[in-house]
Amino acid sequence: MTGGGDCPGLNAAIRAIARRASADSVDVLGIRNGWLGLVENDCVELTRSAVAGILPRGGTILGTSRFNPLKDPESIARLKENWAMHQLSGLAVVGGEGTLSAARDLWRDHQVQVVGIPKTIDNDICGTDFTFGFDTAVSIVTDAVDRLHSTAESHHRVMVVEVMGRHTGWIAAYGGIAGGADVILVPEHPFRISRVCDLLNTRREDGRAFSIVVVAEDAHPHGDEAFLTEDQSNAIYQHGHLGGIGEALAAEIEKCTGIQTRVTKLGYVQRGGSPTPFDRILATRFGIKAYEMIREGRWGHMAALRGTRIVTVPLDDAVHDLRRLDEEIYRVAEVFSS
Ligand code: F6P
Repeated sequence: MTGGGDCPGLNAAIRAIARRASADSVDVLGIRNGWLGLVENDCVELTRSAVAGILPRGGTILGTSRFNPLKDPESIARLKENWAMHQLSGLAVVGGEGTLSAARDLWRDHQVQVVGIPKTIDNDICGTDFTFGFDTAVSIVTDAVDRLHSTAESHHRVMVVEVMGRHTGWIAAYGGIAGGADVILVPEHPFRISRVCDLLNTRREDGRAFSIVVVAEDAHPHGDEAFLTEDQSNAIYQHGHLGGIGEALAAEIEKCTGIQTRVTKLGYVQRGGSPTPFDRILATRFGIKAYEMIREGRWGHMAALRGTRIVTVPLDDAVHDLRRLDEEIYRVAEVFSS
C-alpha cells in the first residue's frame, strides 16, 4: 500500500516486493489509494507481469490518498473485515510521517500486522538517513537552480526559488548547496530580511549583480523583523498546504534593494517523473527488506538506511517527531551565504 503524497521510487518499491515474493511463490495483493483501499476493498493482484516495466515510472501504480482510517471506528472494522476476507498475513505500508503514524497506531492499538517503508521527497522521517524520493527532488531543484543562474545573470536579477519540504529544510539545503545558491532559507532557522538584503547588496557592490535565493516553503521571517501581514502569514503557512513565501520574500527584496527580483515556485514538479538511480536502488532495497520483515513477523517496524546498511527500526522511533535538517548541512550552506 502506498499512502500520503506520491514521490519518485514508489513503483520501484512495489516491484521489489512483488518480485521477491514471486521468487517464493507468495501471492501479493496491492491496496489501491492508501488506507482507503483496504476499507473499501479496492485491491489488485501484483503478479510478476503486473509490475513489469514500472521501475522507472514516477508516481504509484496503486494510487494514493491521505485517508486516515483511525478517524472513525467503522473504517477500522471494515479494514479488518477485508483483511480477514483476503487472509492477509502482513501489510507493507509505504508512506511518510502521516501514513506511518497510522501504521504504528493500527499495529499498537488494533494488532494490524504492518511493516513500514519510509518515502517522501521531504526526507523528514526519523530513524533513517534517507527516504527515497528525496534524491530525485534534489536533482530537480539543482537542475532548476542551474538554469535560473543563466537567466538571472543575463538580466542582473535576483531569482527567488521556492521549494517544498513541508516543515524541514532538507530539499532547500541540499538543492541550494548543489546548485550554488547565494542564500538558502530553511524552516529550522528563521531569517532576517535585513541580512538577506545586505548579502545581495554586497554581491552587487562586488560586481555580482545577480543572485539566487532558495527558500523552503515553511521558512519564516525572524520575529525581530516580521514583514508579513497577518493575512499573508495565514495564506502562506496553512496547515497541510504551504506556499507563497517566495512571492512575499521577492517583493520585500525588491523593495529593500531596488534589484529587480523574480520568483519561481517549483511546486509539484519536485515530486514528479522518473526516480534517480539512487532512489530506485534505495526503494528496491527497502522493498526487499519489507518482504523479509513480513516473513519474520517484525510487525510495527520500518526498513531504514543507516550508513550504507538497510536495518529495521521501531515505527514508534520513526514517527515520534519530524527529522529536522542536520546542523552540519546547514553550516555548509551558510558558508556560501557570505
Ligand atoms: O510531503 C510531501 C509534500 O510534497 C510536501 O513537500 C508538501 O508540503 C506537501 O507534500 C504537499 O501536499 P499535497 O500533495 O497534499 O498538496
